[in-house]
Amino acid sequence: MLSNLATRDVETLVHPYTNLALLRETGPLVIERGKGVWLYDNEGKAYIDSMAGLWCTALGYGNEELVDAAAAQMRKLSFAHLFASKSHDVAIELAEKLKEIVPVEASKIFFCASGSEANDSQVKFVRYMNNALGRPQKKKIVSRLKGYHGVTLASASLSGLPPNHIDFDLPLPGFLHTGCPHHYRCAQPGESEEDFASRLAAELAQLIEREGPETVAAFIAEPVMGAGGVIVPPKTYFEKISAVCAQYDVYMISDEVICGFGRLGPAFGCEALNFRPHAISMAKALSSAYLPIAAVTVPERLYGALLDESRKIGTFGHGFTYGGHPVAAAVALKTLEIYARDRVFEAAAAKAPRFQSLLRALGDHPLVGEARGIGLVGGIELVSDKTSRRAFDPRRSVAARAVQFAQEEGVISRFLAGDTVAVCPPLVIRDDEIEEMFSRLGRALDRTYAWARQERLLAA
Ligand SMILES: Cc1ncc(COP(=O)(O)O)c(C=O)c1O
Repeated sequence: MLSNLATRDVETLVHPYTNLALLRETGPLVIERGKGVWLYDNEGKAYIDSMAGLWCTALGYGNEELVDAAAAQMRKLSFAHLFASKSHDVAIELAEKLKEIVPVEASKIFFCASGSEANDSQVKFVRYMNNALGRPQKKKIVSRLKGYHGVTLASASLSGLPPNHIDFDLPLPGFLHTGCPHHYRCAQPGESEEDFASRLAAELAQLIEREGPETVAAFIAEPVMGAGGVIVPPKTYFEKISAVCAQYDVYMISDEVICGFGRLGPAFGCEALNFRPHAISMAKALSSAYLPIAAVTVPERLYGALLDESRKIGTFGHGFTYGGHPVAAAVALKTLEIYARDRVFEAAAAKAPRFQSLLRALGDHPLVGEARGIGLVGGIELVSDKTSRRAFDPRRSVAARAVQFAQEEGVISRFLAGDTVAVCPPLVIRDDEIEEMFSRLGRALDRTYAWARQERLLAA
């Protein structure tokens, strides 16, 4: 029997990334409030939010400084836009700040409200740039199988996960996918990480050659894949991929929507993984998710092309009503101030070794094939047979079951493609909370194992 609130929910809402048929039986978990890394449901039960919302609430819940920054800006100027030559001080200041901290050449910053809009804009900018540069055939964009870049028609086309494509008639033409850099699943027997990386780079070069280098415009990648299963690329991967992009004059975009702002240790994921893209997409932790805001860096070469197109067409015909929203921008500015003042990235990096050692200890669990991660993000891949790495039948939703047990144990987690349970807590999580989170996750894995055994899902 669903509660009154749950019944109202299923009769009124379409939930993203949810089995809508199953939801009608189970009802949703209704969250009421949050403080620090803790969330409380409408019956008062406490949970550690091991996913920082959706990889985004870096400063945790209930940060009064962010609340005050939003309230003050809302009182001063509740809305202003950047269309038609209008501007406001907060957007200018935030753009200046971002230009200072990004590890790429950024002539300008373009604001929007979500990661999908940021990546969608990247695709449009690349098209515009190559038209302005007089090479209208150079338009195809390469991303990776299992990559995740959002859900608009273009960003879902960039994504390399089947549920984003099936029955949406995607990907659109001109979106190509190259190999997934997951050593555990995709390397050949005995292949070293370095050799695997070389093979993936060669595969990318072959794809570009096959399509015609004059038709391939850009390559986009998350430094560490998030939604695809928390996949840390093999050693030397990005150096080799960057060399291929340089060889074919392919514009390289780092999707920092999850990895940006200290998640992997340094401020940006491309710094952690040692590559220098032409542009980056940011969102989520830019405002610690207190309000929606996202940004794209625009290098001088691209900006010059936007100028040329403006001269030709009379306007730059792109932009979102809420791009650079003053209240969101004020919260982002305060977030960046807190990151710097409290040395949040350094503190998170100092907690990472303990986090990673507890994560990897779960790798010894009989249900876990691989426990992987970097910084304060991890993925726990569940398998039916550790030795052969045999996966479970996806229809048995084993990771979903583990996440349900975790919820019962008081941890909110998330299951991803390939029966992987993700862990990505707020950067401000304390050491004792890290210990507590992993011990609750361990209990959830024990319960999942017992259930899987009962259901005869494990290899004999
Ligand atoms: C790497 C990456 N890019 C883009 C997106 C899409 O962002 P949004 O959901 O804000 O549109 C996400 C969302 O999780 C993401 O993880």
